Amino acid sequence: MAQRETVKESFKSTVDAYKGLHEQSDVDTRLTSYTTLVNQYYDLATDFYEIGWGQHFHFAPRWKWEGFKESLLRHERHLDRALRLAPGKEVLDVGCGVGGPARHIAKRSGAKIVGINNNAYQVARAERYARKQRLDHLVSFAKADFMELPFEDARFDAVYTIEASCHAPDRTKLFRGLHRAMKPGALFAGYEWCLTDRYDESDPTHRKIKKDIEIGNGLPDLSHTSVVDAALRDAGFEVLETEDMAGHGSPETPWYLPLTGREKGLLALPRKPLGRVLTNKLTRFMEKVKLAPQGTSDVSSFLNQGADALVAGGETGTFTPMYFFLVRKPA
Ligand SMILES: C[S@@+](CC[C@H](N)C(=O)[O-])C[C@H]1O[C@@H](n2cnc3c(N)ncnc32)[C@H](O)[C@@H]1O
Repeated sequence: MAQRETVKESFKSTVDAYKGLHEQSDVDTRLTSYTTLVNQYYDLATDFYEIGWGQHFHFAPRWKWEGFKESLLRHERHLDRALRLAPGKEVLDVGCGVGGPARHIAKRSGAKIVGINNNAYQVARAERYARKQRLDHLVSFAKADFMELPFEDARFDAVYTIEASCHAPDRTKLFRGLHRAMKPGALFAGYEWCLTDRYDESDPTHRKIKKDIEIGNGLPDLSHTSVVDAALRDAGFEVLETEDMAGHGSPETPWYLPLTGREKGLLALPRKPLGRVLTNKLTRFMEKVKLAPQGTSDVSSFLNQGADALVAGGETGTFTPMYFFLVRKPA
């Protein structure tokens, strides 16, 4: 099994280093240290994600008659349809997590998906799940930094990214690299984490929401939707569609519902505030009796801080995790 890169020696010192990057460093330091920041975050958080969320590490708008997982899969199908994926196409998944979306989209569309991820632990898990589900003829995964794509020019028929480019230190550079690796005329679609027009930098509550989302989710600096639009254009794409999908679905079941106490069902417990408090108490006990490494409860605490801030970002409408875009590399 792949080692978590940054947790070989001491879990606690990795946790402290991660917190230090957020609490004692400025944005520029976080942006230049993005590989360390993001990898440390995912080394620490992946197991918590899989327990609380499953293998699809993203949000989705939801209809009130839909289950949690059903809504995640529908959100992925929206990309698959927008990109018109079909057998014979080769598609890049940028920042693929443990490969839940890649496996689902490959199974549905018959397209071949290559997932890249800079976190070795997640890549190993993605490969294991693909072998287990006998999908390794359709999906493959590589450990690579999406800022330095290891692919030849004009290789891919389509590209998608789900809630991953928010980790990039420079979106224009990321999008330029993707543009280079796409065939002329190819489509690129994604969901972006962004601040919205309702975000007011002079409001301390809004600033706290932003900061807590960043620390709880391994982000160097959250950007406004207009930054994404400009970066796509600057990279040479023709913008076909953009839309904040946070308002889709039923008003009773907003995208952040899974992180609130209103979600029903026992399986939802680890994501809800009560479940998260219980997990935190359990991790403290496990640390005490040496069943978990020192620092585990700190991870659970900053994930909780991030989760509460996501709910606040959703309720105030200052933040969206689903700014959808569809763009084309000119033919
Ligand atoms: C919120 S997760 C989303 C994962 C996946 N798209 C999904 O929906 O299940 C963000 C992902 O981006 C990956 N990531 C962050 N920075 C990266 C980088 N510089 N290069 C490649 N992957 C990166 C993380 O390791 C993580 O897997």
